Amino acid sequence: MKEKFTVTPWEVSGLVDYDKLIERFGTQKIDNDLLERIKKLARDSHFLLDNGFFFSHRDLDKALESYEKGDGFYLYTGRGPSGDMHIGHLIPFVFTKWLQEKFNANLYIQITDDEKFFFKDDAKFEEIEKYAEDNILDIAAIGFDPEKTFIFRDSEYLGKMYPIVMRIAKKVNFSNVRAVFGFKNETNIGMIFFPAIQMAPCFFEKKICLIPAAIDQDPYWRVARDIAPKLGYPKTAAIHSKFLPSLQGPEIKMSASLKETAIYLSDDPKTVKEKIMKYAFSGGQPTIKEHREKGGNPEIDISYQWLSIFFEPDQKKLKKIYDDYKSGKLLTGELKQILIDKINDFLENHRKQKEKAAKLIDKFKYNGNLAKKMWNL
Ligand code: TYM
Repeated sequence: MKEKFTVTPWEVSGLVDYDKLIERFGTQKIDNDLLERIKKLARDSHFLLDNGFFFSHRDLDKALESYEKGDGFYLYTGRGPSGDMHIGHLIPFVFTKWLQEKFNANLYIQITDDEKFFFKDDAKFEEIEKYAEDNILDIAAIGFDPEKTFIFRDSEYLGKMYPIVMRIAKKVNFSNVRAVFGFKNETNIGMIFFPAIQMAPCFFEKKICLIPAAIDQDPYWRVARDIAPKLGYPKTAAIHSKFLPSLQGPEIKMSASLKETAIYLSDDPKTVKEKIMKYAFSGGQPTIKEHREKGGNPEIDISYQWLSIFFEPDQKKLKKIYDDYKSGKLLTGELKQILIDKINDFLENHRKQKEKAAKLIDKFKYNGNLAKKMWNL
């Protein structure tokens, strides 16, 4: 039977079965041995690994091996600036910062303003540019090492990338990208060429490139890995996360056109409260009396899921919330309030960091000298 979910770089729909997705994509599960190895080398652990949110990989073991040998690896991730960023978009960057810190790695962050222009029929480039600049500040707010991080917009940096883009484009034919990305005859040729641009940073340095991102971006890395040996580079490695579910539940996509499906980094405390209280799917019972008697179901409760994925890294506190909700001691409104407070604390701090980042931004952005040093231009 065909499973009823879709995961592509442009569409995630249905209830994703992550074990099946590993089979479908041909990636590897992050098993305990690998987890222990990361922890040993990082001399630390990260809650997004411990809770299984980063769950799959390609050649992560090879990247670690290269680090053990002293050759190391570099990091690459990115963002398509189609609108304001939501919490889900930020998670890969939070994890990437940890990897950079623990493995002392160079990091390239690609802002695909071109992709979003090609992809959205009614996209105005001036608007995408505005989002790109604001998204860059949100990303810089995460606190990457300014000496080792280069954030760039495709529309501004493509000239420098073009030599490697050309070599990639020559090795990939139309039937190949059509099969991987589902392009059709009507697809505009910007989209058809675009994979060569998203793959380019996989070949910025002559060492293993490790990409932290949600698993929707994996099709690019599949093609990059196929051509890597032909270009004389090591195969790209990736570490994949699951998706933070939308407020309405995992089967509804977080969407910029339906603002109540997600919490945006720009949402003020009142909006956060309203959205969670009104929309966050609840595993509670219809009445307080029934809830006290039967208890709630944390497994399907979105507030609990958001706490367990991102907002409550403390496993002891999380277990208490789980037990109290399941027994009926904790009511749905109380559980939601715990999440609201966590989100608002997080966003308040994020906005402070974003203001500080604005002052540092020239260090990260279009820093030709840094790129030259990092990338060996
Ligand atoms: P974009 O802007 O769609 O997504 C940015 C990053 O967020 C991840 N992501 C999520 N993670 C957790 N929960 C979610 N609900 C969720 N939705 C999206 C994405 O996987 C991504 O890591 N084409 C890319 C931009 C890009 C890129 C890259 C991304 C260029 N180079 C290299 C990752 C790595 C895009 O439009 O991402």
